[in-house]
Amino acid sequence: MDRRHNPFVPGAGLQPPELAGRDRLLEEAAIDMDRILDSRPAKGLILLGLRGVGKTVLLNRLRALADDKGFRTVRIEAPEGSSLPELLTPELRRMVYALDLRQAAGWRLRRAASVLVNFAKAFSVTVGDLELSVDLAPGEGDTGNLEQDLPRLLVAMAEAAADQHTAVGLFIDEVQYLSSSELAAVIVACHEIAQQNLPLLFVGAGLPQVAALAGKAKSYAERLFDYPEVGPLERTDARLALMKPALAEGVSFDDDAVDEILAATQNFPYFIQEWGYQVWNAAPSSPVTRSMVLGSHQEVVSHLDNNFFRVRFDRLTPLEQKYLRAMAELGPGPSATGRIAETLGVRTASVAAVRQRLINKGMVWSQRHGETAFTVPMFDAFMKRQMPQLIRHVPQRLTRQRPRGAP
Ligand SMILES: Nc1ncnc2c1ncn2[C@@H]1O[C@H](COP(=O)(O)OP(=O)(O)OP(=O)(O)O)[C@@H](O)[C@H]1O
Ligand SMILES: [Mg+2]
Repeated sequence: MDRRHNPFVPGAGLQPPELAGRDRLLEEAAIDMDRILDSRPAKGLILLGLRGVGKTVLLNRLRALADDKGFRTVRIEAPEGSSLPELLTPELRRMVYALDLRQAAGWRLRRAASVLVNFAKAFSVTVGDLELSVDLAPGEGDTGNLEQDLPRLLVAMAEAAADQHTAVGLFIDEVQYLSSSELAAVIVACHEIAQQNLPLLFVGAGLPQVAALAGKAKSYAERLFDYPEVGPLERTDARLALMKPALAEGVSFDDDAVDEILAATQNFPYFIQEWGYQVWNAAPSSPVTRSMVLGSHQEVVSHLDNNFFRVRFDRLTPLEQKYLRAMAELGPGPSATGRIAETLGVRTASVAAVRQRLINKGMVWSQRHGETAFTVPMFDAFMKRQMPQLIRHVPQRLTRQRPRGAP
């Protein structure tokens, strides 16, 4: 069918034509936002889910909702290897201006701007000029200890927002890539803000291990946030995600064609977009039939292999690849960590470091002690296609050379 009218949007963070199955979550978040604007407490949110379930899309949708309601929002994505102050400072500077620094700014806003300048200096971030004549916050937010300075800064920002009868929305994507001290600082800041009943809503998104990471950083994090699970769609929502955008373009899918696509995608949003997109391009006409879907099968799978899965695979060392291949041997998981090592032919302890690296890279996670699971849906099947043979691991022994002439 005409590619120009293809409504599907496989990608990262691209708003889908139909945001299916997330109404309740959006409604509850909207209530939290109204509460905060009304100076009532509301917990922050951390959206948790596997790769491609639609966390970023939801985070962005929530941010747009907050903007519509009059929040002043900042959004950052925690990348591997960059620092939180570096990312946050320019965004907060923008917010200071959005809160009208130039026009008859109140005392609280000017103080927040001062704290921001101190904070930027303490963490060696260039912040650019803020139009200030006096330092209104000497010694605030400048200790160089993030766990002290970030709360001070965010409290000052939230106070300034309250002064202007608005609220702050802080949106952080890929929370699992925050360092443990950065995550602790964010949690302490949210705790401080909750205790002072200041208008700031925190919305994070990340891989499922974030709940445990937050609890480890500060035990009270468990009570500070709600952790809505973003998962594959319910069957009726998955059907809607596929059929509604097509119908809007005058294209229908036969029931068994939809069944076929849902079986292949296991109702995961990203896979639905990808299948919808590829099948649309390949189908000669509407309605899309089951045999058209089956005819595209091979092409869609190799497209996914060469793109979505492959970029992740290519970031792995050969040993990490072998580890994931052994995991795949045991199925989609979660699998007992001991069994994975056994499958690799080694003891658990000798591959503990590899496993940890895979966790740090966001490839695997552990829901329960002693278990390991993929963060990318259907990665097990990909690993088997990519590495048909299971390769056992032979750890290299460090052989100490005998000094010459020694007995
Ligand atoms: N509720 C939904 N209904 C239909 N499609 C969706 C839905 N949510 C997300 N998508 C689509 O799924 C794809 C992945 O979404 P998104 O990038 O938000 O996932 P993610 O969970 O952030 O993934 P990652 O963990 O890799 O960052 C996008 O193409 C998006 O359009
Ligand atoms: Mg994302």
